[in-house]
Amino acid sequence: MADLHDRWVAERHHEHYYKLAKKLNYRSRASFKLMQIDERFGIFSPGDAVVDLGACPGGWLQVAQERTWPNGKVIGVDLRYIRPIEGVETIIGDITEDSTMAELLKRFGGKADVVLSDMAPNIAGHYSMDHARSVNLCMYAVNVCDRILKKEGKLVMKVFYGDMMPMLLKEVESRFQSVKVHSPDASRDTSSEVYVICQGFYAKTRVRVAPKVEEKQPEFKAKGGFI
Ligand SMILES: C[S@@+](CC[C@H](N)C(=O)[O-])C[C@H]1O[C@@H](n2cnc3c(N)ncnc32)[C@H](O)[C@@H]1O
Repeated sequence: MADLHDRWVAERHHEHYYKLAKKLNYRSRASFKLMQIDERFGIFSPGDAVVDLGACPGGWLQVAQERTWPNGKVIGVDLRYIRPIEGVETIIGDITEDSTMAELLKRFGGKADVVLSDMAPNIAGHYSMDHARSVNLCMYAVNVCDRILKKEGKLVMKVFYGDMMPMLLKEVESRFQSVKVHSPDASRDTSSEVYVICQGFYAKTRVRVAPKVEEKQPEFKAKGGFI
């Protein structure tokens, strides 16, 4: 019974943001997750240069474009084609491939103030496999930071929560002054998804190799809860 009720609440919640996105001309309800994160953590400033990984259909790109206006520079990368957004550049490609990374470095031409990643793997329905794939994509987002993020820059990335979280947090804690795990109201209906908010990049020159999915770490206990 509790399950049914929870599902009903989640569906209403989902529908609320879905309708709001339609009404306000945002391409996805995910836009509200990023707005809420920005309101809480102060991610964007006018004129910022932003890289958005896993950007299709473009809800986060719209928010980044609005919040870095005027003079912001926003570029989105996705496996899938993104319908054009005024003032936003896009690259179709897989960020796990060197050719996409090279294209991003070439097209971006400079350093980013903010790296965003809402990348999600194709859901296999096998919880620990989906979690491991999600962590793997996060490691590629961290690699992008190593290549392109300015000193003091920020990273916001989505991850499906699970037992590899401490390994992922360790990676970002070694690179950023502040790391918080957060679940914005707009994402509360998707129980396993959380956002890792990283601020104050140290900008050390180090390029890590993303862990392979099979190299899953043994049991860890996540420290602290979500805020
Ligand atoms: C939840 S959607 C992003 C929604 C987007 N933030 C928005 O607001 O419209 C996740 C996206 O990640 C992309 N993605 C997954 N793996 C990727 C990869 N290796 N390289 C680039 N994009 C990837 C998927 O194609 C998908 O469009």
